[in-house]
Amino acid sequence: MEATVRGVRLAYDDVGQGPPVVLVHAFPLNKAMWRRQVAAVAEAGWRAVAVDLRGFGGSEAGNEPFTMDLCADDVAALLDHLGIQEPVVLAGLSMGGYVAFACVRRHPHRLRALVLADTRAEPDTEEGRASRYDQARRVEQEGVGVVVEAMLPRLVGETTRARRPEVVAEVREIMAAARPEGVAAALRGLAERPDSRPVLAKIDVPTLIVVGEEDVITPPALAEAMHTGIKGSRLAVIPGAGHLPNLETPDAFNGALIGFLETLR
Ligand code: MLT
Repeated sequence: MEATVRGVRLAYDDVGQGPPVVLVHAFPLNKAMWRRQVAAVAEAGWRAVAVDLRGFGGSEAGNEPFTMDLCADDVAALLDHLGIQEPVVLAGLSMGGYVAFACVRRHPHRLRALVLADTRAEPDTEEGRASRYDQARRVEQEGVGVVVEAMLPRLVGETTRARRPEVVAEVREIMAAARPEGVAAALRGLAERPDSRPVLAKIDVPTLIVVGEEDVITPPALAEAMHTGIKGSRLAVIPGAGHLPNLETPDAFNGALIGFLETLR
């Protein structure tokens, strides 16, 4: 499905009936990464809305600089478009989590609960920022393959790399669909994202933090730091998965997600 919000065409899936659960994807993937979660959430009696952020999947890039705040405002505008005024459960993985933090800052009244998966509150280091700008230039010159091949070995965990080649192929396929202008813009937006550590203490909705035990991009120690910072939060560590547990071990991820949703009934 598609909607034009704030002058940009956004693609989204909207499946099931019940209280809304909004899913925001990682970089440089798109809503296809949530296929199994959309099905499970809808099956459990919720309305699953998965969005392609600007420049990813079926969504237009638009002309404004890609920032986490811009993405958060897009999510809020999409909810308006869908007639969803009640507070939602917002689930973000990695970059999706950074967007979730921007929603906490900018649209707190729209949130009923949060799922922060394989993400971090910390901003980039100076070195990390410089490397994102460098990669953005290379993507514009050489295409998205630069990022796909650099990230792929780190995105999935060692167990998935050794035992689940079909998952590695699926992740590569989803990433390969990314477009250079979207990826380059997002890299700059990731580099400029603010420190979300001050946000943690302000989160006053039920929060589930999920992390793959083998995640080397946002390792379990960062999830534990968020867990300590967010009062009353729950932490689920998923064995045998890396940065993308929803794709690597979907049954375990869905178990944690649906179990959390049940506590909100
Ligand atoms: C992601 O999975 O969204 C990215 O790894 C986030 C990042 O590079 O910080």
